[in-house]
Amino acid sequence: MKAPVRVAVTGAAGQISYSLLFRIAAGEMLGEDQPIILQLLEISPALEALNGTVMELEDCAFPLVSKIIQTDDPNIAFKDAEFCILVGARPRGPGMERSDLLEANAQIFSIQGKAISDNADSNVKVLVVGNPANTNALIACRNAPNLKPSQFTAMTRLDHNRAIAQLAQKCGYHNSDVSGLIIWGNHSATQYPDIHHCTVAGQPATDLVEVSWIVENFIPTVQQRGAAIIKARGLSSAASAANAAIEHMRDWVNGTNGGMVSMGIYSDGCYGVEEGLVFSFPVICEGGSYSVVQGLPINDLSQKLIKKTEVELKEEKEGVSALLP
Ligand code: NAD
Ligand code: LMR
Repeated sequence: MKAPVRVAVTGAAGQISYSLLFRIAAGEMLGEDQPIILQLLEISPALEALNGTVMELEDCAFPLVSKIIQTDDPNIAFKDAEFCILVGARPRGPGMERSDLLEANAQIFSIQGKAISDNADSNVKVLVVGNPANTNALIACRNAPNLKPSQFTAMTRLDHNRAIAQLAQKCGYHNSDVSGLIIWGNHSATQYPDIHHCTVAGQPATDLVEVSWIVENFIPTVQQRGAAIIKARGLSSAASAANAAIEHMRDWVNGTNGGMVSMGIYSDGCYGVEEGLVFSFPVICEGGSYSVVQGLPINDLSQKLIKKTEVELKEEKEGVSALLP
């Protein structure tokens, strides 16, 4: 049996965690042979609710769960953690944009970035889910002087999966027939879901759909899917977000077998995107790390849309400059 690894999850009493924790505990993220210690962080008023979730985790008698720690202290939650999933943050309600949450949530990520830097394993992998996820990841990263920027990522995998589902439905194929999809930029209404490098059952996606469908239907549907779910459910997406978090971490650890996925990562300036933003790029994961797929041809439409989401991220970054040491 392998030695247990420590997985920290914040916002552990919330909606997303109610789906996420049980799937991590069942081995869906790190494998069915990997024991885990769950280190669960909540704010003090939610500790009682967290205890309810923990009672349910206990009642599953998961063979892989060695220990569960519940705390309201980030220094305890992140101690020696090899994986940190930062979910804990306020969700938006109807009529809000995700960037409206910056003021409420940004501070959380400066405190937690520092606590991760001070306490976590030096090879920790961090995924930020709490919105606005890209800029929160940037804040956490910039407050973590002991760690590399590449250790901090933001979740655009839900957008990636949403785009695959929309395209597969439109083309009359299965989700598994779609490959090469890219989400560029921010997890926001400016994100750019790009099908120009995509195939559906081996055929170029752009041969199967009209440009007018891409521009008028596909892109806005993916950009607005989170808002559509909030409108329908009265709450933001939870199970699909948890699923995306599992897939993001699983692929980062186990690799993508040459396949391309989307991850929000610290930009090094590739594709002309300003260095030092957390921006979603096409990546391939291998050997526990990711690398950007380089050299893809970018047409004028794509260039324009990539620029637009970059501009939004620059503005968000400026808005939180006080939290970026
Ligand atoms: P929720 O309100 O159900 O749960 C959030 C939990 O975080 C609450 O239990 C709250 O007490 C806790 N929390 C707040 N501040 C905290 C802190 N400082 N430390 C630890 N815990 C803290 O919300 P949810 O539906 O689980 O969503 C969580 C976040 O994820 C929201 O910001 C939401 O917008 C975001 N989200 C992102 C994506 C994505 O694709 N990136 C998808 C869905 C939701
Ligand atoms: C989503 O994309 O579903 C989440 O980011 C929640 C939201 O605010 O849209």
